[in-house]
Formats: sequence, structure tokens, C-alpha cells
Amino acid sequence: MSITFDFTGRTAVVTGGAQGIGLEIATLFHRAGARVAVLDRDPAALEKAWPADMDRCRTHAVDVSDSGQVAAAIDDIARWAGSVDIAVNNAGITRDTVVWKMSDEQWQAVLDVHLKGTFLVTRAVVPYMRAAGFGRIVNVTSYTGLHGTIGQANYAAAKGGIVAFTKTVAKEVARFGITVNAISPNAATAMVKAVGEERLAAMTATVPLGRFAEPAEMATAVGYLAADESAYVTGVVLPVDGGLAI
Ligand SMILES: NC(=O)c1ccc[n+]([C@@H]2O[C@H](COP(=O)([O-])OP(=O)(O)OC[C@H]3O[C@@H](n4cnc5c(N)ncnc54)[C@H](O)[C@@H]3O)[C@@H](O)[C@H]2O)c1
Repeated sequence: MSITFDFTGRTAVVTGGAQGIGLEIATLFHRAGARVAVLDRDPAALEKAWPADMDRCRTHAVDVSDSGQVAAAIDDIARWAGSVDIAVNNAGITRDTVVWKMSDEQWQAVLDVHLKGTFLVTRAVVPYMRAAGFGRIVNVTSYTGLHGTIGQANYAAAKGGIVAFTKTVAKEVARFGITVNAISPNAATAMVKAVGEERLAAMTATVPLGRFAEPAEMATAVGYLAADESAYVTGVVLPVDGGLAI
């Protein structure tokens, strides 16, 4: 990593950290000396990415939309680490179709993972951050949540909700030394590649910088928003999208 972060002594929780952008974010924190707790619903992917014997790291096979599972995992992490300093709400899914064909299940599943999951983790970590007088929450929104994308009304509603949630919670917790920000990524992950080669090429053509990013490029932005030095930045949505949203 050419930008050097130091998260020694910090504890970072990353949801959806078994693959893709979340894996890169959690890896950045771990390499920079933090204790890392990775929450993901996929136990096999978790075990592959984060072997049990790894130092300063633990995993929780958790569905972020399940209130009881999230609360138990965050309490466990706080007991293990003594604090929860950083939380990154990254876990996500898509269930794409145009709105007139969208089922209740497709609507609800996407709202639950993104929006409810972000709420549940935030609600669970804030008391620990308040007690410490320090916290960094980084949420993950999307171009779609800001501008809309055909076939993604459920995802747009969830990601737009995350923007409003980010700004509101930023105001609520600022007085406790906690910042709340979001990134809007654009990276070549499994989620993006699932659209197929033809659509991927068309999507790439709309990016001013002419490419999708590597997932690790998202992690650098999160590292900045999680650092002590970003203390005066709160309530922002940082597009890390090659100029897509210009
Ligand atoms: N890749 C992009 O260009 C892009 C663009 C905009 C926004 N995003 C957002 O970035 C985030 C990461 O996306 P990605 O591309 O790395 O996706 P990905 O599919 O590669 O990874 C998502 C991870 O979330 C986990 N997950 C899904 N549902 C979960 C649940 N209920 N509980 C716990 N874990 C769960 C998955 O197991 C997986 O490990 C998502 O919130 C996505 O919406 C990505």
C-alpha cells in the first residue's frame, strides 16, 4: 500500500468482509495494525479469507439484517477487543428487475440487507463509541442511490436511504467525537461482473476515467474516513467512482 495508515490499537468492524470491497477494506485495517472483526453471512468465504489462526482478527457468520445476531456479535467483539472504534457498513446484495415485475421478496431482501443492516450495526456500535468519545462509521452507498439506475428501484431506495441515514446520524453523534460518512464506489467485484460482459462494457464506457476500479482503491478512501486525521469530516458522501457521478 503506498498510502500508509496506522490503525494500531483500533478495532474495526467490517460487514460483508469475506469478499469484494469489504475484504479489501478489512485487509487494509488489518495490515495497518488494527484488530479486525469481519461480519459476513457466508461462513465458507469467511474461513477462506480469514483463517482461524490469524492474529488480531475474528469472524462472525452473521446476517446483518438480523437484529439479535448483530447485537450479539457487536457485544462479543467489544468484549474481545475492549472497544469498537470503527464500523464499516458494506454488506450488500442485488435483486434486479424493473419495478412492475419486482416481487415483495426482491424489494424487502435488498432493503433489509443494506438499510436495516446499516441501521442495526450502527445502533449496536454507537454506545461503545460514545463511551470512548471516539468513533468512525463509514457506510457504503452507490451511484444508484444518488441518481437511479433502471432495474434497481429496491437498491436505489436502500442506498438513497443510507445517504439520508448517514447525514442524520452524523448530526446525532457529532458531539460524542463520532463521525459518520459514506463512500459511493465503482469497482470490479463479483456483484458488478454478475451483470455480464456486454453490460459491463457499456457501463465502463460511462466512466470518465475509462475503467472500473480495483476493490482495493475503495479501501484507501475508507481508510481516510476512518483515520484520526479525518476528525473534521462528517456527513459526506465521497464518490470513489472514476467520475461516474460528475
Ligand atoms: N462494486 C461496485 O462497483 C459497487 C458500486 C456501488 C456500491 N457498491 C456497494 O459496495 C458494497 C460491497 O459490494 P461488492 O461489490 O464488494 O459486493 P460482493 O457481492 O462482492 O460482496 C458483498 C459481501 O456482502 C456479504 N453479504 C451479503 N448479504 C449479507 C448479509 N445479509 N449479512 C452479512 N453479509 C452479507 C456477501 O456474503 C459478500 O461477502 C455493497 O454494499 C454494494 O452495494 C458496490
